[in-house]
Amino acid sequence: MPADEILISETEIQTRLPALAAEVNAALPDGPVHIVMILKGAIIFGVDLARALMRNATLGFLAASSYGAGTESKGRVQIDTEHLGEIEGRNVLLIDDILDTGHTFAKTIDILKSKRPASLRTCVLMDKPARREVDIHADHVGFAIENHFVVGYGLDCDEAYRTLPDIRIYAPE
Ligand code: PRP
Repeated sequence: MPADEILISETEIQTRLPALAAEVNAALPDGPVHIVMILKGAIIFGVDLARALMRNATLGFLAASSYGAGTESKGRVQIDTEHLGEIEGRNVLLIDDILDTGHTFAKTIDILKSKRPASLRTCVLMDKPARREVDIHADHVGFAIENHFVVGYGLDCDEAYRTLPDIRIYAPE
């Protein structure tokens, strides 16, 4: 299949998770946290990280779409906030699977800040700095990667591969 090459193994992901959770926990203020995941890509990493945090947490979701079909970003981001939950006055942790051009994260952070959280921390599983078009970073990064189109562990190509337990390089045949 066109996604045979493993870039980050299941073992590497599962080993990194508790260390990343400890980093995030150390940076978050004490008390309840509202964890916001960007659908759909963040869902698998987000749930694993949320559980690894082992703290009093609520969940919210944003639906973002920027890629459409295929492997190239269109640079357009649409965000649906219907299931975001209350942000004002709360300590918020934003989670996404990958920081690529940065358009999705930048727009999402603007939306969250406009709702006046008490604090906002950000975490991504993967950072692909070579592709950045917006000057933005995540507070916590699981893995920095080269400029590969990757699938698995939440990431898709035309909605396929999201449930793979590892991250693979997608190379069309
Ligand atoms: C992907 C990914 C990030 C975003 C990153 O989402 O999950 O949210 O693109 O790209 P950017 O930094 O260039 O904006 P996508 O829009 O493909 O939706 P999905 O999460 O439902 O797969």
